[in-house]
Amino acid sequence: MPPSAIPRVRVGRILPPAAVRAEVESVLIGPDRLRRRVAQLGAELTSEYSGRELVVVALLNGTVVFLADLIRCLPLPLRLDFLNVASYGSSTHSGTLRMDRELRLDVHGRHVLVVDDILDTGRTLRAVTTRLQQLNPASLKTCVLLDKPERRMESIQADHVGFVIPDAFVVGYGLDFDERHRNLPFVGVLKNPPIRTEG
Ligand code: XMP
Repeated sequence: MPPSAIPRVRVGRILPPAAVRAEVESVLIGPDRLRRRVAQLGAELTSEYSGRELVVVALLNGTVVFLADLIRCLPLPLRLDFLNVASYGSSTHSGTLRMDRELRLDVHGRHVLVVDDILDTGRTLRAVTTRLQQLNPASLKTCVLLDKPERRMESIQADHVGFVIPDAFVVGYGLDFDERHRNLPFVGVLKNPPIRTEG
């Protein structure tokens, strides 16, 4: 899909369920819209990888909900592996990235698709793709549910993007704040976002 056709989401006024209203300000992307867009991404990827076997490398932990929905829209032979990318800094500081978990699968000569929840400064995806490229895959592409281009620090773009979102700290559908809110069935804007410094 050309970048201009990727759905752009604006912060609106749809209130979340009362149970989370103290912490979540608004619903940014509701469950139906997520379902429809993930199915579209699945169709895009299915046609791109038709006739090829895929290794999906998902970044823990924020991708788990998106990943579970996405791979069920991929009627392709695929294998799944995980990477855990953590920051040496605090939760509000990007710090230095380190990979806590090595791949189990050999990706040499294979078609690799990296799946992440959100592309923000771009440091995570840059570090992961640089590392994976060194393993000589046959091809390496990236797919993110959300793209927050306003905060980009690395010049990197994902090959497949679910939604372009504004610069707001989002939770739900796998994304967390302090490990909470991952279970929300929608993507919402956090009421008191962490103060983030980069570098
Ligand atoms: P970078 O900056 O490396 O960030 O592109 C990617 C990782 O940062 C986390 N992140 C967020 N997590 N709400 C979250 O819950 C957000 O708005 C947000 N922005 C960045 C996330 O772990 C992502 O993989």
